[in-house]
Order: sequence, then structure tokens, then C-alpha cells
Amino acid sequence: MRLSLAYLGALCMIPSVFADADFSQVRLNQDVDMSRRAGLPAEKYFFESTFSMHYDGRFAAHALNYTEQTKALRDLVRSYLMTFQSLGIETWLMHGTLLGWWWNKQILPWDSDLDVQVTESSMFYLAAYYNMTYHRYRRIGGGRHYLLEVNPNYVVRDQSDMYNLIDARWIDTVSGLFIDITAVRYNLTHPQGEGMLGSKDGHEYRDTYLYPLRETKFEGVKAKIPYKFRDFLVGEYGGKALSNTEYNYHIFDEEKMQWVRKNPDEEGEPWVERKQQGS
Ligand SMILES: *[C@@H]1O[C@H](CO)[C@@H](O)[C@H](O)[C@H]1NC(C)=O
Ligand SMILES: *[C@@H]1O[C@H](CO)[C@@H](O)[C@H](O)[C@H]1NC(C)=O
Ligand SMILES: *[C@@H]1O[C@H](CO)[C@@H](O)[C@H](O)[C@H]1NC(C)=O
Repeated sequence: MRLSLAYLGALCMIPSVFADADFSQVRLNQDVDMSRRAGLPAEKYFFESTFSMHYDGRFAAHALNYTEQTKALRDLVRSYLMTFQSLGIETWLMHGTLLGWWWNKQILPWDSDLDVQVTESSMFYLAAYYNMTYHRYRRIGGGRHYLLEVNPNYVVRDQSDMYNLIDARWIDTVSGLFIDITAVRYNLTHPQGEGMLGSKDGHEYRDTYLYPLRETKFEGVKAKIPYKFRDFLVGEYGGKALSNTEYNYHIFDEEKMQWVRKNPDEEGEPWVERKQQGS
């Protein structure tokens, strides 16, 4: 058993680590496995659930409603960032998570797909020392366990391994929500020459866009973002994503600095369906 203590943040969250968990220890909630395996090849390592692409079916049987999901996602990303900081592993926000940071340094409430990246060497380190580690994360008024699971196909460097684009996951063992962790690798044969980084999910960029990483906060805890974050966001989502204050049934309330739902009565499953088209 390994034990690590992170700094005591303002929210008083304390992660600790248990190595080499197996599923009998980690799966507390259910006996049924709701993983969607049908029609997918055996070489695929991570399975999503039958009810949503953004839940791990080993840990949950249904999606949370809006309020509960937002709460769970906040704890998910906080626990991840704090744990990686205490392990000394550099990680940065990407994709929709970076877009959430841009608006108010918080998650986008309609986006249950959180994304972060690490370097390839960090992924080797995680695979060697932290695969299947079970991290207890406590905070005032709650706390739960998270599992760090590394895809054994992380050693396959190119995108031809199309069923294993995600190198690792940080999984909430209560709700089944997870963060996708992808490694960026130097691409030595890239036509644009030296310094090109790429991840298996097809995203490519030059290292000078990433480094030096900027230090910031996300959901109230320390976080890092790419140096040229604006170029990343405009490249991926278009300039409008940085200025449109209305998106996916939400309005950005500039006084509260919050994305709020146009119709707060809308909760539950139909929400999940719409969200997947929009994020
Ligand atoms: C969302 O789920 C929680 C927990 O199951 C429940 O307490 C709450 O009432 C639900 N909210 C709505 C609006 O259904
Ligand atoms: C992590 O552990 C799981 C469960 O034992 C195993 O299936 C997987 O191959 C391991 N990943 C790596 C990178 O070794
Ligand atoms: C390097 O980049 C090229 C061009 O985008 C791509 O076709 C190739 O798969 C990449 N190689 C690796 C190892 O990622």
C-alpha cells in the first residue's frame, strides 16, 4: 500500500493511494456489468456503458441527473488534479475542459466528457507504478474513491490502434464518470518536421504551443493549461465558442460568471441525449 498526502487545499481535500486494486475491492455498487461490449472488437480495452458513452458501466447502472452529475464532475476533476499534483505528474487541461476553463475556470455543465493530457514519459511512469491504484479523496461533506486505470495499449504509438485512443482513465467508482487521459508523443516522422506532438485520438500540435505550461486554477484547485490556449480553442471549436454566450440550452450569466440552464426544470435522461450531440 502506498500512501501520499497532497497539500491541504482550501476545500480540505485529502487524497491517498492504494495500489493494485482489483475490481472486487473497487466495485461497491452493483453486481451487473453495464459495459457496452456488443459489436466491439476484443482488442478494445476501455468499454463505455450501455446507457452513456461517458460512464463506465462497471461502476454504475444509470446516468446521474443534471445536478448530481455536475457535482460529481467537479469532484472528479478536483480529485484528479490534486492527486496528480501530489504524485508530481504534470498534466494539463484540453478540449472541452479547456473551453470550460476559458469561460469561468469551471467545467461546462453540458459536457460530461472531461479531457486532460500528460507526456508519453508520464504515461510510462503511470503504467509502471500507478496502474489500478485506488485513490481515496475526502472533502468536507463527502468524498469517495477514484481508480486510475492504464490501457496496456498505451505502448502502441500510432493512430492505427483505433479502438484504444484513450491511454488511461481516472474513474469515479461511485458514479462511473471518468476523465480521459491521453499521452502526447513526439512524432519523429511528421511532415512538418521536429517538435510535433500528437495523441492517438488524432490531435496534433507543435510543442511551442504547449510549453511553457501556464499555471492557473480550475474548479478551485491548481491546474495547468497550454501556453497558447487560445489557439487551441479557436482551432478546435472556432472563435465563436469563445464569445457566444448561448450554447446547448445554456446561457452564460456574466454577473454570476456561470453557465445556467435556460429551463432549469429540465433534468434527467433527455438531457443526456441532447448533450451528446452538442459537446
Ligand atoms: C437528482 O438526483 C438526486 C439523487 O438521486 C435527487 O435527490 C434529486 O432530487 C434529483 N433531482 C431532480 C430534479 O430530479
Ligand atoms: C492495468 O491493470 C489491468 C488490470 O489488472 C490490466 O488489465 C492492464 O493490462 C494493466 N495496464 C497496464 C498498462 O499494465
Ligand atoms: C505522425 O504524423 C503523421 C502526419 O499527421 C501521421 O500520419 C502519423 O501517423 C504520425 N505518427 C505517429 C507515430 O503518430
